[in-house]
Amino acid sequence: MDERPIGVFDSGIGGLTVVKALRDLLPDEKIFYLGDTARVPYGGKSAITVERYSLEIADMLIEENAKIVVVACNTASSLALPKLEKHLPVAVTGVIRPGARAAVAATRNDHIGVIGTRATIKSGAYERELRALNPDIRISVRACPLLVPLIEEAWLDDELTDRVIVRYLEPLVREGIDTLVLGCTHYPLLIDALSRALGERVKLVDSARNCATAVQELLDRQQLRAPLGTSGGLEIALTDAPDNFLRVAREALQLEIGEVQLREVLHGAAKL
Ligand code: DGL
Repeated sequence: MDERPIGVFDSGIGGLTVVKALRDLLPDEKIFYLGDTARVPYGGKSAITVERYSLEIADMLIEENAKIVVVACNTASSLALPKLEKHLPVAVTGVIRPGARAAVAATRNDHIGVIGTRATIKSGAYERELRALNPDIRISVRACPLLVPLIEEAWLDDELTDRVIVRYLEPLVREGIDTLVLGCTHYPLLIDALSRALGERVKLVDSARNCATAVQELLDRQQLRAPLGTSGGLEIALTDAPDNFLRVAREALQLEIGEVQLREVLHGAAKL
């Protein structure tokens, strides 16, 4: 039993989709969420920069007494997980493995699509995880860099967003995928638009929900669950002042968000 908070970080606000899934699944747990809004987006940055940012932000969660660290960002999970696992004094879980596992369980024709930021797709992280689970799986990937700005603009139910989705996904559907991994923590906010575009043909795998299940398993394995009957809660800190996207996410996710704290990045705390 452990009353310390679960530390969750993302490049910005998108990781709140993971927080929503965690709050639903583990209501007794305290969550400390840190969004690196001063340096978002990570999705177009180089691997070395994403690694450095992730280590700095994760160190800040350790300062907040986190009992485990959840990397609620596909880009950081793709590029920084090995370094985080090596560097941090607590267990770390990302979004890639849980999403890959759920996709392999969901596919019927063994052909999976993955969408994400440029950095996530370029890293090949999903392909590696999927192939480790099933070497015969077919994988079609596509970077969708325009989706994050459309989501942050709150164009969740919008004709233009629908057209962008179709443009990105048409080749994957033509290639024959029956399952699509939403490999970016922003994308669950587009679940309705994606379902509209893909219909019944393609199953959507939401990495946020599967990550929450992995966190539950990790806490159980390490006997770190909060004592029964403790009241869980959510604290949010950002590295820069919140913008409009916080309101968008709060409304779309129906998350109760109290006062948002500001934290300065602890530069250079982490050694690569
Ligand atoms: N949260 C990031 C992810 O899941 C997307 C936003 C960014 O590019 O930083 O990949």
